[in-house]
Formats: sequence, C-alpha cells, structure tokens
Amino acid sequence: MSSITSGNAEQYADSRKLAARGRLNSEYTIAATGWFPWVARQLPLRPGDRVLDIGCGPAWFWASVVQEVPENLDLTLADQSSGMVAEAVERCRPLPFGSVTGHQADAAALPFEGGSFDAVIAMHMLYHLADPAVAIAEMSRVLKPGGVLAVTTNGVGNMREIYALTTALGSPPVDPGGAAFGYEKAEAMMRGEFGNITFSEHPARMLITEPDDVFLALTSYPPGDRASEAQLAALREAIAKAFEGGNGMLEVSKETALFLSRKRA
Ligand SMILES: C[S@@+](CC[C@H](N)C(=O)[O-])C[C@H]1O[C@@H](n2cnc3c(N)ncnc32)[C@H](O)[C@@H]1O
Repeated sequence: MSSITSGNAEQYADSRKLAARGRLNSEYTIAATGWFPWVARQLPLRPGDRVLDIGCGPAWFWASVVQEVPENLDLTLADQSSGMVAEAVERCRPLPFGSVTGHQADAAALPFEGGSFDAVIAMHMLYHLADPAVAIAEMSRVLKPGGVLAVTTNGVGNMREIYALTTALGSPPVDPGGAAFGYEKAEAMMRGEFGNITFSEHPARMLITEPDDVFLALTSYPPGDRASEAQLAALREAIAKAFEGGNGMLEVSKETALFLSRKRA
C-alpha cells in the first residue's frame, strides 16, 4: 500500500506530525513571497463569497492570509479528520471572516448540495485519495456555475535532495505526494473535468541549516515514523553526509504549484 494514501487517520488525527514538515518549509524556504500569501493573491475571490476548503488541516492557510483575502468570506472548513476540523474552527472563528463552519467530510463524497460554493480550495490533499478524479468531480458538483476550483500539489521532483535521503528507509527517492498526484495528473484530471486550467509554480528554494529538522520531518510520516533503529541510524548518517557535502547546509529545490479551473457558467 502506498504510504501517502494509507495511515491518514493516525497521521492527521491532529496537526502535530504535519507541523514537523510545515516547520521545515516555513523555517527554511527562500522566496520573494511566502507560499500561503502567494496562493491567496491568485485566488479569484470576491467579498462575501461562499468558500469550501476541503482537506483544510489545521487551517494555517486561512489564519496567515486573513488580511489578504476579500472581506466577509463565508468559510466552510472541511476535513476527514475531526481533530483537524476542531482545530481549524477554533483557529478561524475569532478571525474577521464573515462566518466559519466546520464539517467532517470525505472529499470523495462531499456532504453538500450541488451548486453551493463560489470557490472550492483543495490544498495538498488530493494525493491522499485513492481516486483523485472522483474527488475533483465532487468538487465540481458543489461549485456554482462560474465557480473556481483551486488545487495545490507538489511536483515529483519536489525537495529531491531530501527525498534522496529516504532510500535509507527503503523509500523511493521522490516526493510521495508528487508521485501520487503530481503536476501531470492535476493538469489532466482538472482539464478533463472542467475543460480549462491555469498552472503557476511558486518560485522558491530551501537552504536548511539544521540536520535534526530534516530528521524530524522525515520521521513524521510512514515509513519513517515506524522505522527500525537500524534504519533510523542509516537515515541520520545519510543526513549528516548530505550536510557535510554542503559545508554544513543543505540546498533543496522546490516544485510546488497552484492549479485553477473554472466551472462553466
Ligand atoms: C497535507 S494536509 C494539508 C492541509 C492544508 N490543506 C494545507 O495545505 O495546509 C492534508 C489534509 O487532507 C486531509 N485529508 C486526507 N484525505 C482526505 C479526504 N479523503 N477527505 C478530506 N480530507 C482529507 C488530512 O486529514 C489532512 O488534514
């Protein structure tokens, strides 16, 4: 079974494991505009829009862009994990949105009426689904005519210098999210559903100075979170060698992108 589509209940019971990977990105990414504001500035939202964020996680996105998005958004925060929904709602309710509602929901069978939302946002979550095309069709169904679907995902070459180290854990040297639902699949499935798509890649790279942060991120999800002592020792050694080769730093390339499709009016 693929590590990216299995074990989600444990992986995302709350935001702690996700935080190890989020920290690596937020601490060490070098970009003119950070990932969340870069995404927010490209969302074609209008004041008062009804927005569904499916796979919202802890809603770090909305908390960081609340000042960048139009006023009075009617936000529905949905996730398969009830722990994530609770955290997302608690984080966003005090913020100046029009309204904030939480729903435990599976992207493959959305519990909303057709034509309900002006925008659906699905950030870094479609790679968890066994059949992302089913979820994309569901997202299209719940959009109003003329509404927009915004999807983010990684390319297969994302952070290749880091994923090369995961061979010590017996994993292939690629981003598992990008391998499961990368740029090509996002493009083909969204174009297939909507007949249109735009793509933009976030211009960014990483310069990591702390080997332990790489270790924590790579052991925050399967198989690293259940690796044997011998595998963990091999991973530590591989990380140490990579930092030695970079004079105490690890330079990492990023492939992270936003795809937008509009439902016919
Ligand atoms: C990598 S996190 C992304 C969180 C957030 N969208 C972000 O970009 O910061 C993936 C989220 O997708 C959720 N998820 C996984 N499979 C799902 C499904 N079938 N339906 C709804 N949510 C799902 C997980 O519980 C987790 O919160």
